[in-house]
Amino acid sequence: MTGKPGLFISFEGGEGSGKSTQIRCLEKWFRGSGHDVVVTREPGGSAGAEEIRNLLLTGDPGRWDAVTEAFLMFASRRDHVERTIRPALADGKVVLCDRFADSSVAYQGYGHGLGADYIRNLWALAIGDFKPDLTLVFDLAIETGLERAGERFANVSAAEDRFERMGTDFHQRLRDGFREIAASEPVRCRVIDAAGEIEVVSQRVIKAVKDSLARQGR
Ligand SMILES: Nc1ncnc2c1ncn2[C@@H]1O[C@H](COP(=O)(O)OP(=O)(O)O)[C@@H](O)[C@H]1O
Ligand SMILES: [Mg+2]
Repeated sequence: MTGKPGLFISFEGGEGSGKSTQIRCLEKWFRGSGHDVVVTREPGGSAGAEEIRNLLLTGDPGRWDAVTEAFLMFASRRDHVERTIRPALADGKVVLCDRFADSSVAYQGYGHGLGADYIRNLWALAIGDFKPDLTLVFDLAIETGLERAGERFANVSAAEDRFERMGTDFHQRLRDGFREIAASEPVRCRVIDAAGEIEVVSQRVIKAVKDSLARQGR
């Protein structure tokens, strides 16, 4: 729990699993029911963190060693939490975040092999016990996800593809890692089957959110 009056939901999963698409759907749903919503993303989400984002998402896949990459992620996350997320929650807002600390556990912990415990220690050092009230883990076959992500980059011609280019084995470790994370925290995390039409996935998301809020007595 965040210990704050707002609600903090993170969107997790591999590349192209539909996080950014579904965050917009859920934003509409919350706004439609009268909530104040802040949509944010990682790495980034505050002025300083966006500068670090550029270091992390562009350039050669081997640009950073795993430990440096993990520290950069948590440096940007610390800034994002302090400058953006905590203030919004204190104002009673719903914060929807495109990736959060579980992505570090998956990418640097499982993907790069630093181990989940190493990353969870870093998590505690950087932001203590701060974590989402609910984490939606989008699960999708990696080929489908990378195919979708490839189309997205073709459309927007973005250069933020450093992680997409890390290879199939890396992406398989991510998927397995996210599933293990979800299994280890079944109250906070909900696995969403990310295959199928956008509208179908959106209905799964809304159902998971309603169910989780009811269970948390909110
Ligand atoms: N359920 C879906 N079916 C088909 N294409 C999708 C679906 N959800 C998203 N997409 C498309 O796939 C691409 C990647 O989706 P996106 O939401 O950006 O994924 P992520 O943020 O997880 O990387 C986008 O071009 C998006 O329009
Ligand atoms: Mg995205």
